[in-house]
Amino acid sequence: MSRWNNMESSNANTSQENPRVLITGGLGQLGVGLAQMLRNQYGPESVILSDIKKPPSHVYASGPFVYADVLDYKHLRELIVNNRITWLVHYSALLSAVGEANVALARKINITGLHNVLDLALENCLRLFVPSTIGAFGPSSPRDPAPDLCVQRPRTIYGVSKVHGELMGEVSNSSNF
Ligand SMILES: NC(=O)c1ccc[n+]([C@@H]2O[C@H](COP(=O)([O-])OP(=O)(O)OC[C@H]3O[C@@H](n4cnc5c(N)ncnc54)[C@H](O)[C@@H]3O)[C@@H](O)[C@H]2O)c1
Repeated sequence: MSRWNNMESSNANTSQENPRVLITGGLGQLGVGLAQMLRNQYGPESVILSDIKKPPSHVYASGPFVYADVLDYKHLRELIVNNRITWLVHYSALLSAVGEANVALARKINITGLHNVLDLALENCLRLFVPSTIGAFGPSSPRDPAPDLCVQRPRTIYGVSKVHGELMGEVSNSSNF
């Protein structure tokens, strides 16, 4: 069993019954809806939305919101510690076209940002969710249906960073960590 799994199982009951959730990149397409769903289930104060953008008033009024840049490791750590976070949903990313328009920034947010949350999750025994995407497959991947394990050679920085994320997730959960 990995160090991660060991720590996870010792905190599992409290964490699952009364999670304290931080969502990064929470003002994008997916974050607000997820926050609403989790708040209905676990209570409005249990879910903190975060982003680097100013929230619209209805989002600000709907529950806790904080500024959080996933590239600022120390500040993220402070948020996790001060708010006793147990689950981290990592939504921050530069997606397809935006990433292609700024590859250097996409590399930072999608790869360095991911490493920041992986390290913080390990350090603080968090349950971590990082979504991948269909963009992790490339033109040489088999289609209809694409199997889970197949050639993945995407040609965008977004796709490449997601393949990196998938593999980092696997290796982080293995006995080496
Ligand atoms: N929307 C989809 O259909 C879809 C499909 C598959 C996977 N995903 C994945 O789900 C996640 C969320 O997708 P989305 O559609 O909500 O993305 P989005 O582009 O709508 O939102 C991303 C958010 O990240 C924030 N962000 C950018 N830089 C940041 C930084 N340095 N620190 C903190 N936040 C930062 C942006 O302000 C933005 O609000 C992404 O990882 C994406 O790859 C989304």
